[in-house]
Amino acid sequence: MDLEKLLTDRLAPAFATVAGAPVDPVVRRSQRADFQSDAALALARRLGRPPRAVAAEVLEYAEVADVCSVAEVSGPGFLNLTVADEALAGLVRALAADPRLGVPVTVEPETVVIDYSAPNVAKEMHVGHLRSTVIGDAAARLLEWLGHRVLRANHLGDWGTPFGMLIEHLVDLGEAEAAQELSMGDLDSFYKAARATFDADEAFRERSRRRVVALQGGDPATLRLWRLLVRQSERYFTTVYDRLDVTLTERDFHGESSYNDLLGPVVEDLDRLGLLRESDGASCVFPPDSVGRDGEPLPLIVRKSDGGYGYSATDLAAIRHRTGTLGATRLLYVVGLPQRRHFEMVYAVAAQAGWLFPPARAEHVGFGSILGSDGRMLRSRAGESVKLVGLLEEAIARATALTRKRNPELGEAESAEVGRAVGIGAIKYADLSSDRHKDYVLDWDRMLSLDGNTAPYLQYAYSRIRSIFRRAGVAARPDAAISLAEPAERALAFELVGFGRVVGEVAENLEFHHLAGYLYRLAATFSAYYERCPVLRVDGPVRESRLVLCDLTGRVLQQGLYLLGIRTPERM
Ligand code: ARG
Repeated sequence: MDLEKLLTDRLAPAFATVAGAPVDPVVRRSQRADFQSDAALALARRLGRPPRAVAAEVLEYAEVADVCSVAEVSGPGFLNLTVADEALAGLVRALAADPRLGVPVTVEPETVVIDYSAPNVAKEMHVGHLRSTVIGDAAARLLEWLGHRVLRANHLGDWGTPFGMLIEHLVDLGEAEAAQELSMGDLDSFYKAARATFDADEAFRERSRRRVVALQGGDPATLRLWRLLVRQSERYFTTVYDRLDVTLTERDFHGESSYNDLLGPVVEDLDRLGLLRESDGASCVFPPDSVGRDGEPLPLIVRKSDGGYGYSATDLAAIRHRTGTLGATRLLYVVGLPQRRHFEMVYAVAAQAGWLFPPARAEHVGFGSILGSDGRMLRSRAGESVKLVGLLEEAIARATALTRKRNPELGEAESAEVGRAVGIGAIKYADLSSDRHKDYVLDWDRMLSLDGNTAPYLQYAYSRIRSIFRRAGVAARPDAAISLAEPAERALAFELVGFGRVVGEVAENLEFHHLAGYLYRLAATFSAYYERCPVLRVDGPVRESRLVLCDLTGRVLQQGLYLLGIRTPERM
């Protein structure tokens, strides 16, 4: 149990007695004591009594003697709480003996569908897909570790009118040649060439149109060519996922086309429920609260005027499938912020139709853009969107070069391995350590630096701890007595016992920068501790105790970074 919770549980009954009703004690970490509560101030205002008197009365009822060495009223009516060393040491010992590091398996396991990555067939993945992949994968790792059943849904863009043109281009190019180009990851040139011919050549346009009709009609020869395009693209995306070291696999592709058979029934049911309106020839639903800038109601188009179903119909069918067939109660959509409105409308319509109701709920895990050093959307020198693999290769190359320079003793193979872990770690961490609602600037020097809130800093802290144990030649004894005489030891202990709380919060809000910030604080606190509290130069119980603190820090760093999808090399 974390200390905020422990102290809250102890203070709450005392506050309730004084107030005659439940009061949240609002216990926070503080500079003045270890923890502070300011709830007596608001309560005193409500009761019309002097705040210090109210605070003193709360303390009379509070049973905190076994947890706090000092509990006193301070200033205008704060409660200052100093945690007893023995109590803190007891929590550290419990943590050391706990393989889950103070993070219990959930008592309410849910089926969670995470819709993430979702690149488009025969199109290059761009940095937006990078963010979705990195954030979605962290969510999958975290929720799985907490004991939820996580279903990864890679909502691949594998259907729609562009496939007429793409298939015709494939025919013109020849299947072997096209397959080669696509599996090499030349998706952009393939797409652009198709587009260029489409724009320039009327006969090609006509063929493309007929091809779309054949595709939608289920023509076997056309379907075979379409599958070839999808297959080659999936293969390519899988190589990117491997490079990126994410947990997505081939089994997780659930492309838009897999919902095709469900689209007709979705629209029919919306009609039966009286939710459909015709608007400019298209079939639309107008969800209750959605109005545009001009105050006009905004429609969600479920069938276009040409009779085709679009993106929204597919998303509705997917919700119905996820809650109904898969039994999911939490649906996460890791998609850029520009699509927020789309998802709000889709959720509203799904709720109206009875496909999404409590306890099932859908959340848009939105994110901002990645910017270049000029503060504008990241572009290549030629002004095009940056190719994702190029970015990953550059990260690995830079990190490998830095690793060789920093530690020439590592062999060639280990340098390459470390370089990969650091490069990919740096990319992921730069993303996950920024508030996902905001844009962030991709800055190579900063993200690869060994100083500051970066992956290499945390990985280095981990490897340093491992080197302590290599030199010690022994492991920490988890049942060792813990002594927290030094302030630096106490400070580290406080950070360590806070892991569970952060993980619990992030599982709710999926704001991974809070987990990143916590790990950074932990590593910095460890660094200060290690400077002041020698481990290998002392003997006996103090050394045993310090080894436990080192070991715990290493384990928390490793687990925390694992949850962010980042590896922890033993040496670097
Ligand atoms: N393929 C889309 C894109 O590249 C993202 C799909 C997101 N997921 C969804 N269920 N709509 O923008």
